[in-house]
Amino acid sequence: MTETNLRILLAARPEGAATLDHFRAVEEPPPAPRPGEALLRHRFLSLDPYMRGRMNASKSYAKPVEIGDVMEGQSVAQVVEDLSGTFAPGDWVLGGKGWQRFSAVPVHALVKLDPDAAPPTAHLGVLGMPGTTAWAGCTELAQPRPGETFVVSAASGAVGSVAGQIARRMGARAVGIAGGPDKCAYLRDELGFDDCVDHRAPDFPERLAAACPDGIDSYFENVGGAVQQAVWPLLNDFARVAVCGMVAEYQGDLQPGPNLSSVLRKRLTLRGFIVSDFPRAAPTWRATGARWLRDGTLKYREDVTRGLENAPTAFLGMLTGKNFGKTIVEIT
Ligand SMILES: NC(=O)c1ccc[n+]([C@@H]2O[C@H](COP(=O)([O-])OP(=O)(O)OC[C@H]3O[C@@H](n4cnc5c(N)ncnc54)[C@H](OP(=O)(O)O)[C@@H]3O)[C@@H](O)[C@H]2O)c1
Repeated sequence: MTETNLRILLAARPEGAATLDHFRAVEEPPPAPRPGEALLRHRFLSLDPYMRGRMNASKSYAKPVEIGDVMEGQSVAQVVEDLSGTFAPGDWVLGGKGWQRFSAVPVHALVKLDPDAAPPTAHLGVLGMPGTTAWAGCTELAQPRPGETFVVSAASGAVGSVAGQIARRMGARAVGIAGGPDKCAYLRDELGFDDCVDHRAPDFPERLAAACPDGIDSYFENVGGAVQQAVWPLLNDFARVAVCGMVAEYQGDLQPGPNLSSVLRKRLTLRGFIVSDFPRAAPTWRATGARWLRDGTLKYREDVTRGLENAPTAFLGMLTGKNFGKTIVEIT
């Protein structure tokens, strides 16, 4: 093959905020697949906030990326070659590995996609890991109920936009928190959220209180920081909090959390989760979400950047809200 494998590596560990200097692009020959592996040409790369954690050396629920290694990430890809015969050249699969143009992946780790059933990129966002996270967080933890108020932060993003739509289907009043009037208008007018509050407004805590006149019964936490501080006083007795992410703090800006006496006084249920804690959620959500997409009742939006070389810029932008929808890189 004459093409080279463009790869984006971790060049250095950030102390505080990550910048473009922490990434390095290299061109190498494509990998040679070993027995049992397929050679994949990546078409679309998913960029997700968790990748910022992989750039740190600190202990977490997953291993860090080593300096000099390719950045971790999932792609939808097309098969170039599979000597095992499981896949034909050109087949679409989920399971490409890393911020790179090609990877060689064991065939048992690949999921074949039907591009006529749903656009391949949907498997990185609305039907993929982020959508599954929204499903698991809502059905297992936040448990929105009819007549109650459900609030989700980072509401226009990959996880939050799906969580709000699920909460409405479960009968709750869904209030989103998002950055800016355009994102809020989209959530209200196109996704059917009952209300949305702009966390960049100077009087955000007052606006949130006005949008939740009966308090908050369940909260899907994606952000932390100042947003969390505004949400906390509004939680009702016996409220459920699904702690999914704290993206406001991923660049190192750690914030003091709420005093836990509120957990006692209000008898709150607070639980952090990683989507893989709920292995049954992925197949259930894939089938449920696909049905809702087909009948037009589940909506989503993607923010697609062209060119793998632009992945670091798109990634850093996502961490500060420059994305509008699921962040994806089209590998041209
Ligand atoms: N637990 C799990 O298994 C799991 C799985 C997937 C994702 N997550 C978490 O879910 C959260 C959302 O992920 P996603 O993929 O859907 O990302 P996303 O919402 O598509 O993108 C991140 C968004 O975070 C918001 N944000 C960033 N800094 C903020 C700040 N200081 N204050 C308020 N909002 C801020 C921005 O939206 P605005 O423009 O609205 O500010 C930005 O668009 C992340 O915390 C992620 O780590 C967890």
